[in-house]
Amino acid sequence: MKSISAVLLCFVFTICTFTAIAQQSVLSPNGNISLSFQLSPFGEPYYKVVYKNKIVIDNSRLGISLKGGALRDNFELLSSEEKKTDDTWKPVWGEESEIRDRHQELLIHLQEKSGQRRKMDIVFRVFDDGVGFRYEFPYQQDRLHHFVVTEEHTEFALTGDHTAFWIPGDYDTNEYRYNKSKLSEVNAYIGGSINEIYAKSLFSPNATQTPLTMKTTEGVYLNIFEAALVNYPAMQLEIDKKSFRLTSRLVPDAQGNMAYLIAPCHTPWRTIMIGEKATDLLASRMILNLNEPSKIADPSWIKPCKYVGIWWEMHIGKGSWEYSAPGNINSDATPVPNGKHCANNENVKRYIDFAAKNGFAGVLVEGWNTGWEDWFGKGKEEVFDFVTPYPDFDVAELTRYAESKGVKIIMHHETSASVTNYERRMDDAYAFMKKYGYNMVKTGYVGFIIPRGEHHDGQWMVNHYVRVAEKTARNKIMLDAHEPVRPTGLHRTYPNWMACEAARGNEFNAWSEGNLPDHETILPFTRLLGGPMDYTPGIFRIKVNQFDPSKKEQVHTTLAKQLALYVTLYSPFQMAADLPQNYEQRPDAFQFIKDVAVDWDESRYLDAEIGDHLTIARRAKGKKDWFIGSITDEQARTVDIKLDFLEPGKTYKAIMYRDADDADWEKNPEAYRIEEKTVERGSKLQIKLAPGGGCAIHCKAL
Ligand code: NOJ
Ligand code: CA
Repeated sequence: MKSISAVLLCFVFTICTFTAIAQQSVLSPNGNISLSFQLSPFGEPYYKVVYKNKIVIDNSRLGISLKGGALRDNFELLSSEEKKTDDTWKPVWGEESEIRDRHQELLIHLQEKSGQRRKMDIVFRVFDDGVGFRYEFPYQQDRLHHFVVTEEHTEFALTGDHTAFWIPGDYDTNEYRYNKSKLSEVNAYIGGSINEIYAKSLFSPNATQTPLTMKTTEGVYLNIFEAALVNYPAMQLEIDKKSFRLTSRLVPDAQGNMAYLIAPCHTPWRTIMIGEKATDLLASRMILNLNEPSKIADPSWIKPCKYVGIWWEMHIGKGSWEYSAPGNINSDATPVPNGKHCANNENVKRYIDFAAKNGFAGVLVEGWNTGWEDWFGKGKEEVFDFVTPYPDFDVAELTRYAESKGVKIIMHHETSASVTNYERRMDDAYAFMKKYGYNMVKTGYVGFIIPRGEHHDGQWMVNHYVRVAEKTARNKIMLDAHEPVRPTGLHRTYPNWMACEAARGNEFNAWSEGNLPDHETILPFTRLLGGPMDYTPGIFRIKVNQFDPSKKEQVHTTLAKQLALYVTLYSPFQMAADLPQNYEQRPDAFQFIKDVAVDWDESRYLDAEIGDHLTIARRAKGKKDWFIGSITDEQARTVDIKLDFLEPGKTYKAIMYRDADDADWEKNPEAYRIEEKTVERGSKLQIKLAPGGGCAIHCKAL
């Protein structure tokens, strides 16, 4: 019955579109993308996107449900406005030093024809690489301005059973392996595994998270996502597996509502990115262009950097975050040390020395503060206070020592998802950081959110993450958030927000079945479209049984690929994640991590297929040196790299860190070769990548 009426409605709508219902269209600046908007005879807003004369998004409905009545039909068009923009702006840091924002805007003013006569605007921006649009709710003189969003009805009517790269529609975590399947084959119950600790019952089998990246049946690359997620929940997508119509699915709050808004206000941008080649998605700056300019007037204190840390050694079981065994208390109530606490004075000093000697700006220290005995899985409200060090971590002395070596200790605030506790203590925590000279914090939200019922990706938490970005900015603190909602380009507005985790990082290789060899060939086309990831590359000791021979886990790449990730997974905040002793054993390969830049003037996306391989070249900020990263999935392959981006007339030394001929991520992952060659603009390099392998190249200007 339902489908018959849907067919009828479609039919009526198709007929009516031919009976001159006003349609507005705008073209992208280069004319390749056309966006059209129209109202159906019932006053329902629809839009459509055509790319090079092919429909990419067919007639799709727009609208939103509020408590007190939906805003999705009964509209009339009041007026519309068009605007052209062509600006260039400079990010504080990034993949390139200048970004062009060229788009055509169409602003539609709608009002209900009868009843409450509420107003709603829809604004579209059409770029050469895609379309962004959002709902805007103007202040309405005579009406209630507070409203509760119960559902959003944005549709994306796809034209076929495209190939999708997806993770399940979990409300609390993005830390999944990616699945590749036809849209009709998406089954979120299969995509699960390690994250079963989260609320699996919240999944719909047909829901995926965004960014959702697809290769269409016609070979076009398509990504559906959002930009500038503020004061609203994250948008997921529900797939109709027969019609291939996707519908927005918002992350609810503890009451089952989606968002609480006060007019004038707007939703985040819904984005449709379109590319001829896979690499076009990487070159797109649409998400950043849809975000607001920086709110930080003087960003001189924001510095991209590389760091090392007391971190991997806990993940691979050398020692612990906690100082004592739970319940292990002396008669005078002091804890008995467990003898394996890593964040102790001596170890921290060892890392500071190592950072200073090798030119790393920061040393992350996890497990420095009291509370780790109780932090995980207990759902306690008061676990950490963020200002009380363990007895063997002398904060004043370590600060003095770090300062004397020109290194900064990086603060760690694991909240264990007890977010009201963190909110209450944030001011004191940042004052403590200022007192001891810390300028960077890594936050963490492991576990279910307290208060219970809120989700990591709901409006309540989205507002929390932004509040942390604002508050740290006011305190001149740089931020790296683990387990937050995935980024949506807000680092343009808050450039102190250097990176987020919000995906499955390298750490999974330490204690789970890990990330498959194709994982890093998918991340740049999905999660990284929203912003940098603190992936923590650079593991040299690929098998992680160094301290525990019974451990079977391993990193699912070769060593050379770990080097290439510094180029292919962009972040202004990159960790050299392995232990100092593992680097000291291989100083020749470590040299690449020491040399590679974290801030760039230009980036060239040379060649890629999503989930298979990827090659990127980047020029270091303010320098002539280029760095190239090339990676493959589980397949060995040969890549040809033409160096046609080097400066004409200049000679370079290409230092190539490549897989040895017999390297293999599983059988022989640590075998690499370093070769040098003199090259110039136009030179060609042919490089063999091992299964799960990669190659990192430093083109040093001579
Ligand atoms: C998960 C984070 O991703 C990881 O980096 C951190 O070490 C642990 N939580 C403990 O906070
Ligand atoms: Ca994590």
